[in-house]
Amino acid sequence: MPGKKLYFATNLKMYKGIRETVSYLSQLEQLTADMDPETVQLFVIPSYTSLPDAVRSLRHKRLLLGAQNMCWEEKGQFTGEISPLMLQELGISIVELGHSERRHVFGETNAMINQKVIAGLKSGFTVLLCVGETEEEKNWGISDETLRIQLKTGLKDIPPGLTGRLWIAYEPVWAIGINGQPASVEYARDKHELIRNTLYEIAGTDGREIPLLYGGSVNPSNADALILQPSVDGLFVGRSAWNAADFNALIRSAIHSAAYKQQCT
Ligand code: PGA
Repeated sequence: MPGKKLYFATNLKMYKGIRETVSYLSQLEQLTADMDPETVQLFVIPSYTSLPDAVRSLRHKRLLLGAQNMCWEEKGQFTGEISPLMLQELGISIVELGHSERRHVFGETNAMINQKVIAGLKSGFTVLLCVGETEEEKNWGISDETLRIQLKTGLKDIPPGLTGRLWIAYEPVWAIGINGQPASVEYARDKHELIRNTLYEIAGTDGREIPLLYGGSVNPSNADALILQPSVDGLFVGRSAWNAADFNALIRSAIHSAAYKQQCT
């Protein structure tokens, strides 16, 4: 029986400009050229300004590209925003919504993210909805409540039948970035199970099919153990992915561990 499809992705945040992004993508494409997108889905989320060149630079459609954010409106008085129509013009396939930095640095609310999720799905994108509790929420013992609120409000009234284009990244805020503490594998597994159950409540059996990626200080020493968790379908990697050779090595090691586990079961 074939194993589950695995997802590996990185968000380049506000780090790489056009030239660096194009060079990174070309290296990553070459290094991962033998990976079958039917079983391993790779995607990269560059800065807005790099997206047009990034799209043109790709030689294959194996690697997907996404935007880091999107406005819910198609047009209007929204200075500084990027609309779904503008992203459609670029030919990208994914929009990442609700990343922790959008929520906590730029004050995006669950209600705003919900409007974006609906607009993203209606506009034909695959939506990567990011959820995660803050350290304070964890210490207050309300991580589960926070995640359920983010999911139930973020996915409220999503158009029926479109969950096939919905992916979720669980990224505990306290695990993200240079000062982050990676979640233990057990913690990540428990929260993924909670998310899976909540998705079932929201979307019924379709909720069981939604890919769940873990993010937050994923690195070569925890990636294999994380991907082995039945509730983890993929890894959403920041710093450890921004060198193409390192990301390729991390992906290969994780795939190898997953394949080995598959053989042994
Ligand atoms: P990190 O970033 O891997 O550098 O912690 C993760 C993210 O923000 O998606």
